[in-house]
Formats: sequence, C-alpha cells, structure tokens
Amino acid sequence: MELTLTRPDDWHLHVRDADALAAVVPHTAQQFGRAIIMPNLQPPVTTTKQALAYRERILAAVPEGIRFTPLMTLYLTNQTTADDIIEASTSKRVQAVKLYPAGATTHSAAGVTDISKTYAVLETMEAQGLPLLVHAEVTDPQVDVFDREQVFISRHLEPLIARFPKLRVVLEHVTTREGVQFVSGAPATVAATITAHHLLLNRNAMFRGGLQPHAYCLPVLKRESHREALLTAATSGNSKFFLGSDSAPHTRERKESTCGCAGIYTAHAALELYAQAFEDAGALDRLEDFASHFGPDFYGLPRNADSITLEKQDWQVPDSYPLSGSSLVPLFAGETLHWRVKQKPLARPQTL
Ligand code: NCD
Ligand code: ZN
Repeated sequence: MELTLTRPDDWHLHVRDADALAAVVPHTAQQFGRAIIMPNLQPPVTTTKQALAYRERILAAVPEGIRFTPLMTLYLTNQTTADDIIEASTSKRVQAVKLYPAGATTHSAAGVTDISKTYAVLETMEAQGLPLLVHAEVTDPQVDVFDREQVFISRHLEPLIARFPKLRVVLEHVTTREGVQFVSGAPATVAATITAHHLLLNRNAMFRGGLQPHAYCLPVLKRESHREALLTAATSGNSKFFLGSDSAPHTRERKESTCGCAGIYTAHAALELYAQAFEDAGALDRLEDFASHFGPDFYGLPRNADSITLEKQDWQVPDSYPLSGSSLVPLFAGETLHWRVKQKPLARPQTL
C-alpha cells in the first residue's frame, strides 16, 4: 500500500547548533519542505541577525539535492523590544516569536518571567501579524506537573488572547483534553501543534519496566484519556490542529543521567510515526490536511507544491544515531515501524 501526500512541514522542531546540525537536519530535510526552528539555543536566538546567521548554518547542513527551508523564530525575553519585532517581521525570514516561561523546559532559563512585561512587544506582534508560539506550562512548583498546561491556559492564555484579539497564537505541543477544548473553542487566531509522541504514547511509557528517560519530554506525556483527545483533534479535520514534531535531540549521556533532560527525538521517522497514529485511528485520509495543509494555511504561507510517498513496509529503527561525539537514542529505538517514506534518489554529488 502507498500513500502520497502534498509534502508536509514540521511546525515545531529543535535542530540545535554546530556539529549536531549535521546529524539531525538531514532527517527532517528528507521528509519536510519547511520547519519552524525553535530558538532555544544556548545562548538563545533573540535577534533577527542571530536568526539569519543560524538559518545559514542550518542550510549548510541540508544534504545536496534536497530543498528544505528553515523558518526562523525569535526567543522572547523580558528584554525584547518593539523594534526587535519590527526588524524580525520586515526580514520576512523570521516567521514567529516563541514564548518560554522561564524555567519551564530545556534551555528556557532566559525566558519570560512575567507575561505582562511583554505586552508592548505583543502589541507590536499583533500589529505586524507575527504569530506568538507558546510553551503553555506554568512553572509554579505548587502546581502538579501533569496540570501545568491547563493552569497556564486559564491563568495566562485566556487573558492573553482576550487582550490581543488579533494576535495569532499557537499553543505548541498541546497535550491535554483541556488544551484541545480551549483551542477548539477559541477564535480562529488560535491554533495548536500536536507531536507524534503525544499521539502514540501515554504516560505509562515513561515507567514501562523501569524509568525510561527516552520517553521523557515536556510537556510530559499524559494519561490515556488525554492521548485520545489529542488523536480525536488531530484526525477531526479541524484546521486549528496541525503537525509539530517537537523532535528534540539530546545525547545519550544527557538523557541517561541522574537529572535526565526533557526531549524526545522523532525526526528520524516523524511522518511515519504520524502515519501510524492516523492509521491506528482509522483516519489515514485525514493525514494530509493535518501534515501538509493546515499549517501553511494558518501561517499564511503557500502549501508545498511537491509531494511525498509513504509505503507500508516494515523497517527497524536503529538503536542510535551519532550526535556530537556521542549518540542519540531515537524514539522506538530497535523497534519495528510499519510505514516508511519512499526516498527519491538524491542528486548525484557533483564531481570536479
Ligand atoms: C525541548 C528541548 O529539548 O529543547 N524539550 C522537550 O522536552 N520538548 C524543549 C521544549 O520544546 O519544551
Ligand atoms: Zn519544543
């Protein structure tokens, strides 16, 4: 069996920097036409100049013969100014601004400590039509880690969209029934990305036979009823929900540690994992809208003009990939997946 789709895009992706880029960018570039690149480098990407330089480094890591466009984002801090936003939107290469509550996740220490400090910037983004991408979790230690998304929505996101009714907002990697309900009921300016791992796994995956660091990400996996709500949203045909893998590479040592960091790597098989989730839900016919149409429509960008073909063929995920002098353990390492992207042969490297 084969399935041909308009080429998809990944609307939430971490590719890191330096030699890690060369290790992970090819995985994404072989499947997706474009990807929204998260700015949580160390130090973070806070200016247009940094974003454009980072874009060049990413492009240099794209294998020859492949066309892949990184869509850049800025990391919002308490110090971001309205001028930074105007520069970003006039560049045409910065597509959005990412809000990390300080301390919410990996490399978020430079994030926003108080959203009201960013109001002038959000007003400029609203006027310029630059979307705000939100890591929607409170950092309040009093709030149970499994409730942090829904508390963020009621404490911060609902007031924010009421205050900035024209600002386009993406609730990144939505993980809960409450998140799905909020986005579904919100105005058309509000959308959400959904990861493949939150569609395929519930929180039991983190404790299967012992502590499983490679199943730990933020927002953390939730209980089965939430996974079902996400699957229903992704396969519903509602254009507010689209693909964002949140593939987040870390070395094995950083994951298998006494303080293992958050992040699941899925770029090696991103589209295949979504295809599995949609097939399991009996909704393969909805995959193209979710993966290839609704994202560009929300961002006001054209849909990709070429296509990609998936075939039903078993293959085994490698135990690891090389990463920065160490290794990277991908999701479902060593296990069998049932869908595979049919690779077009790459253009032959030019000989001198
Ligand atoms: C991401 C990372 O490693 O950069 N980790 C994760 O668990 N998703 C950060 C993020 O998107 O929260
Ligand atoms: Zn992320």
